[in-house]
Amino acid sequence: MPDARIEQYNVPTQQSSAALEFENIKRQCPVLASTGCNADFCQSGRMLHTDEPRVGENRPIEVVMNEAEQFLREMLQGGLFSTIDECEERIRVVHAEICSNSRHGIIPGQEQLGFVGGIYYQSTQELEFGLRRSWRNARKCIMRSQHETLVLKDLRHITSSLEMANEVIKGMQEAFNKGSIRPTTFVFPARTVDQRGPMIISQQLLAFAGYKMNDGSILGDPANVQLTKDIIELGWTPPEYKTRWDLLPFVTLAENAAPAIVELPLNLQKLVQIRHPRYESAFEDLDLKWVAAPALSRLGFDIGGVQYTATPFIGWFMDAEIGVRNLADSFRYNVLPDVVKALKLEGSKDYDDMDDLPEYEKLALLSRAQAELTYAVTWSFQNAGVSISDSFTASANYIEFDDAFKAKHGYRLPSDPYWLAPPQGSIVPIWHRGGAPNYQPKPLIAKHVLNPMKAWRREKNSYSSPVRQLAPVSAKAIPNQIIAQSISVATSITTQFISNKLQGFEALMGTDSCHIAIHYCTAGTTARKLADKLHKKIAMYLAKTTSKVILHNIATLDAIEVDELGPNTLLLLVVSSTGFGDIPANGQAFYNACKLRENSTPKLNFRFSLFGNGDSRYADSYNGGALKVLEALNGIGGTSLGGSGFFDADTALEPVPTQALDRWFHALQQPYDAALGVNGQMTIHDSKGNITIPLKRGSIVDPWTLLVQQLKILTAQFVPATIVDIKRGSELPGTGSMIVTLDVGATPCVHLGCIQVLPVNSPAKVETILSLLNLDGSEWLDLSKTEAIIGITNKRFFAELVDLEAPFSDLAWISQLKIGENIPEASIDGLGSFKVLQYLQSQGLFPEYVSQEVRKNIILSMRLLTERVFSVASSAPVLRLKGSQKRTCNEVDIMVKSVANGRFSDAFLSACSLPVALQVRSIEAACTRKLTEWTGQTHMVAIATGAGFGPVRALLQRQIGLSREKSMSVFVGVKACDVSLISDVLDEAAISGIADVVDIVPSNENKLRIQDRFLEPCNRQHLKKKIEGDGALVFICSGQIQATEIIRKLDEVVDGEIRVILGERLILEVY
Ligand SMILES: Cc1cc2nc3c(=O)[nH]c(=O)nc-3n(C[C@H](O)[C@H](O)[C@H](O)COP(=O)(O)OP(=O)(O)OC[C@H]3O[C@@H](n4cnc5c(N)ncnc54)[C@H](O)[C@@H]3O)c2cc1C
Ligand SMILES: Cc1cc2nc3c(=O)[nH]c(=O)nc-3n(C[C@H](O)[C@H](O)[C@H](O)COP(=O)(O)O)c2cc1C
Repeated sequence: MPDARIEQYNVPTQQSSAALEFENIKRQCPVLASTGCNADFCQSGRMLHTDEPRVGENRPIEVVMNEAEQFLREMLQGGLFSTIDECEERIRVVHAEICSNSRHGIIPGQEQLGFVGGIYYQSTQELEFGLRRSWRNARKCIMRSQHETLVLKDLRHITSSLEMANEVIKGMQEAFNKGSIRPTTFVFPARTVDQRGPMIISQQLLAFAGYKMNDGSILGDPANVQLTKDIIELGWTPPEYKTRWDLLPFVTLAENAAPAIVELPLNLQKLVQIRHPRYESAFEDLDLKWVAAPALSRLGFDIGGVQYTATPFIGWFMDAEIGVRNLADSFRYNVLPDVVKALKLEGSKDYDDMDDLPEYEKLALLSRAQAELTYAVTWSFQNAGVSISDSFTASANYIEFDDAFKAKHGYRLPSDPYWLAPPQGSIVPIWHRGGAPNYQPKPLIAKHVLNPMKAWRREKNSYSSPVRQLAPVSAKAIPNQIIAQSISVATSITTQFISNKLQGFEALMGTDSCHIAIHYCTAGTTARKLADKLHKKIAMYLAKTTSKVILHNIATLDAIEVDELGPNTLLLLVVSSTGFGDIPANGQAFYNACKLRENSTPKLNFRFSLFGNGDSRYADSYNGGALKVLEALNGIGGTSLGGSGFFDADTALEPVPTQALDRWFHALQQPYDAALGVNGQMTIHDSKGNITIPLKRGSIVDPWTLLVQQLKILTAQFVPATIVDIKRGSELPGTGSMIVTLDVGATPCVHLGCIQVLPVNSPAKVETILSLLNLDGSEWLDLSKTEAIIGITNKRFFAELVDLEAPFSDLAWISQLKIGENIPEASIDGLGSFKVLQYLQSQGLFPEYVSQEVRKNIILSMRLLTERVFSVASSAPVLRLKGSQKRTCNEVDIMVKSVANGRFSDAFLSACSLPVALQVRSIEAACTRKLTEWTGQTHMVAIATGAGFGPVRALLQRQIGLSREKSMSVFVGVKACDVSLISDVLDEAAISGIADVVDIVPSNENKLRIQDRFLEPCNRQHLKKKIEGDGALVFICSGQIQATEIIRKLDEVVDGEIRVILGERLILEVY
């Protein structure tokens, strides 16, 4: 039965004048905080009032007692006590608790020590009521009509920084509620007398980093530059490749503790890609996104005399916050001029710089861009299934709520028109409403008197425990971004499969907060693509669970900080091989770091699983790079989880060998012991399943089956081409470089990519072999009785698919020749297969008729051709477009360094007479994407040595074709004999004004190298200006040693480390 006295208490005075409204406010809001105004001055016109209430300071006991009492009476008024007596009893208890927790101390504003009011423990109901009322009283918030739905996440038992961060991260998932956001406040312990209370250093749970670049520009969110600096000061390592969308970690500061920095797990990195249904491609190009929910973290709550200093709360956005402010404000992301351009708004084509337009034109264009952007924001959030309000609806809801409140209580809630009215202005009706009375009731939401970073700086010397970081590996990686659309991805079989695996990961790691870091090393693009696919799979699962697995971004092997590897880390590695069983350049530094640490104790304790991405045609060095990495990992104490293995990546069947990747992933779950074979040998998988095969083609897998498979790869991927021209720098074989022109027929070539060539065998040698083996050449290669014929003739096999220059992989077949004589091994040791057969024949040791059995074994022991890879050194598309060259559309140049005895550059090219046929394949290079995206808007400093000039040549040709003046500065170091090869394009670039600097250093007696020239005054000044001032890209294309030297010299040119300064602006092609 409600108490009649409560009902009476609620009835407003029914008069409507301002005076009566004030009366009602005073009567119904007994505790009013300062608005910063006094009898002489009113602050209502200010965006931020000085002297606004804050949390974080001692207050006199009488103030605390009074606020507690009035708060409890407000609860009574709100119907939260069933009787007045119940309320009075609670007031008595609370007063007693306050007294017992009070003590003498400093009270701001008082000259002498005073009696400081202590805290009391609020019941959950009291706290929830207080939070809701605080929201209702927030005069800057248009969403207040929702205050009754606010959910309390009571975390008042949490006292460590790390737990604070983890609990928020855990609870956020629930509050986000798959996009249907439940406004939620996380409440940590209240502040006690003389203490600052727990604090959150992050401004928002989800916020983008803002990096001040050396040229003064800001990458990312300018609003967060200081915060980003602060978090870096605390020990956070920003991603190596910085972007404008890097999410900051969540940083907390408990009472009496050091801060904790926790990287957001992938399932919390919720971003919404901004798309527009009518300007799809323009918005795709703009690549705008925003975080899916606001989660303010530095505000506290002041409730009934209790001060809560760490209370992050999540809600949902209103469109204008993102479309009119965060992305659009000129001092934030400032994207409106880009939107005008991208949308090609009428009139936008008539100017280069928007400031050249009359102001009214500029206003019209920006207003239209603002409208479209705001529309796109709402549309994208809605389509992603993430809560958002549009300004009309939010404003209508508020007006309705405000009017109903006034009707019921006889006064309006406080409101600040500057903050409340959406920034679109008078088209949103609330704009006309103006302000309500300027007052501030308690409970309320308030800032802290202290900046948490300053607080920590003051305290830090008294702590021995360091800042805790939960991002031990790969913190440098590019932050992962989950686009909110993926939240609605239906559960698929794959996801369920992964889900099982990941639960297994957690179980295997024996910890519920394990970090998965995916790293790769690649000479091309395959390993990166595989790593990316793996990442997406795991991310897809994580986005749908509350798993505590923290998934780091993919990064190269070199990004691993060896010393940071620990028991909570699971490394998943995709390792390709290059050269002759070598580790690709972007894994070398990691390998070296492991080797340096190999003999140190204690050993590191971490787990890993390795996917060796190899090709069994490289028989002796099959997965050689992966093997080296595996040994290095074992050497520093890593433990291989089940499934590590070498795979024969069958890129003929799939461009990226994902089936093999899936099998590896599947095997990851197997216990460690089972995954290792006897004697700790790795399980080795072929591309069809988990069959163990030896490193060499041979015993266990049927060799014919393997050969068929390998031939399929070769024949499926390589196409015929013709070399039509070779320009040599020097006639001496094995010295200098060549420009080799290929006619690739109808094959489309990846622009700024690579060409793989198979140097076929000379027709004379093929004829000799065919005759030795008693073959006509036109018959099908007879691979096995059981294997279907794959349509390869013997002639084609010996001409295009085996390498007659390479030694046999084994010579067991010689004993089957039944020639009755021992062959001195030394005489054939190291000889290529052709030469071995020729020798045997010349010595009369080869029978006139070989049996089918012997022939098959000879074939099986021959090595298949392996490709050589060269960067495309011409830019046919642009040249064709300009019609300035006589080139045909299917010609492409490569610049080839002549290597003594090199299979292609020497053996093949020296012996051939033009035109000559061979097999080629066009592939993407690691830097193709970056190079094609760059068209000259920003300057490029290109530095190349030797045949590394190839891709620079292609870029120069493209810039010449596009007439992009002063878009490049070019530095080249070449052999003296090669200057003539490169000078034509460099001359043209200089004459046409494409390159503002062309500096060539031919090899010389003084051993002056191109990088030494960087330190000469005019180059130094130029490079410094371009790199630090103009934001130029730097493209380095050279061998590994030269690249290291070039980078070292650039370090001397700029202020700081060139890699750090350049970030994503550094494009490296090292071979
Ligand atoms: C992405 C990429 C792009 C490249 N672009 C270019 C380019 O534009 N221009 C360029 O000139 N190069 C380029 N290279 C390097 C080039 O692919 C290699 O140097 C290639 O091996 C050269 O082929 P070759 O026939 O001249 O020599 P190869 O026959 O491949 O011999 C190369 C070296 O290896 C040695 N060698 C040969 N067989 C063996 C063996 N079985 N075991 C151990 N060592 C052996 C040789 O003696 C020689 O020193 C690129 C490499 C990559 C990965
Ligand atoms: C120049 C070159 C050398 C290679 N050397 C090896 C090798 O020694 N062992 C091996 O297993 N695979 C070797 N491969 C095959 C690669 O492992 C295979 O092409 C792989 O898919 C490349 O992946 P990536 O694009 O990530 O570099 C070589 C490939 C090239 C082009």
